[in-house]
Amino acid sequence: MIVSPKIRGFICTTAHPDGCAAHIAEQIAVVRNRGPIPNGPKKVLVIGASTGYGLASRIAAAFGSNAATIGVFFEKPGEPDRCGSAGWYNSAAFEKEAAKAGLYARSFNGDAFSDTIKAEVIAALKADLGQVDTVIYSLASPRRTHPKTGEVFKSVLKPVGEPFSSKNLNTGTGAVHEITIEPAAGDDIDQTIAVMGGDDWQLWIDALLAADALAPNAQTIAYSYIGPVETWPIYKNGTIGRAKEDLERVQRALDLSLAPLGGKAWVSVNKALVTQASSAIPVVPLYISLLYKVMKEEGTHEDCIEQMDRLFRERLANGTPQPDDAGRIRIDDWEMTPHVQALVAERWKIVSTENLAELGDFAGYQSSFLRLFGFGLNGIDYSAETDTSVAVPSLA
Ligand code: NAI
Repeated sequence: MIVSPKIRGFICTTAHPDGCAAHIAEQIAVVRNRGPIPNGPKKVLVIGASTGYGLASRIAAAFGSNAATIGVFFEKPGEPDRCGSAGWYNSAAFEKEAAKAGLYARSFNGDAFSDTIKAEVIAALKADLGQVDTVIYSLASPRRTHPKTGEVFKSVLKPVGEPFSSKNLNTGTGAVHEITIEPAAGDDIDQTIAVMGGDDWQLWIDALLAADALAPNAQTIAYSYIGPVETWPIYKNGTIGRAKEDLERVQRALDLSLAPLGGKAWVSVNKALVTQASSAIPVVPLYISLLYKVMKEEGTHEDCIEQMDRLFRERLANGTPQPDDAGRIRIDDWEMTPHVQALVAERWKIVSTENLAELGDFAGYQSSFLRLFGFGLNGIDYSAETDTSVAVPSLA
């Protein structure tokens, strides 16, 4: 098939297998160029391992620290006449590179919220690795079926209390326009907490502990975001922010359950980056476009892989996590630097459709978005036929 981007709103319904493989190779090169991570993780379970921050965590652990990795994700396999999802092709490429490097890598494609997948993964983990020393929890999902009750919860991205009016970016056209988002109603908040809060993280860690699948001093890390005041009504103080507060509640509870092992649970606050999950959040893409411009000019811009490499290398592996007052790791530190935020805030006030190209990095936003799906990578002939039925070796 000849594969080209088909963008519908904030998603791309196609993905290029060779482009995704090139994207994986680039991320591996970033980590390898930085050299081995001293005292890095050795046996790692990544829940949400196929795209964005979870994928970058898997790559950083494997290629920075020679870690054996088990990855869990929910992706669409490719067929000869139909594209699979980017996360499928990423995982296929990751496993091939891991095999070349002599690294153990096994993947599970299914609903991480279900008891079935938890049981399958833990059985494989016990059989193959015995125990893991690190568990990364990096799911981003619009819905969750509760494993015990069968109830389906749906997360929403809404402000809490009152409507929120803001500048917003139409990422398809580049137009900057005003939007008003109505506040959460009914049980929107509880539904969002049920999907994106800490309940499922807790179920995973409880199940791993019950199976004696966590090594002494095991760490588990889940990801969160805080960001600037401009996005607080839709993020930090919105429905998703309530879910992230719940994640912190569970982090404190997990700290207690891991203490007998000498283990630790962390919430790491990461940088705002273009991923499949973040492109769905209103207002955030405009902020990201302005942020990228400032941070690229400063030379401090990072993508998921640089963020996750820094998380392992500088915070988790060398005993200097540098938690904030609330006990969170802040790998968003460069984003939140006062002068970076002051510049973004200044530009936020005056940004419009006409000056977006000058004040923001909309081209960078678009290119990052396309790269998520394997488009725009160097060295790929996008006019050539490609095999869309690529297999993930451990799932073949
Ligand atoms: P993403 O959309 O790139 O990745 C989501 C992952 O979850 C994929 O591997 C997907 O297959 C997996 N997944 C979704 N539903 C699943 C299910 N039912 N069963 C198994 N796997 C499933 O998202 P991203 O942005 O990497 O987000 C990961 C975490 O990082 C989230 O907690 C997010 O809030 C957080 N974060 C994201 C930031 C951003 O700017 N993108 C910033 C800071 C934190």
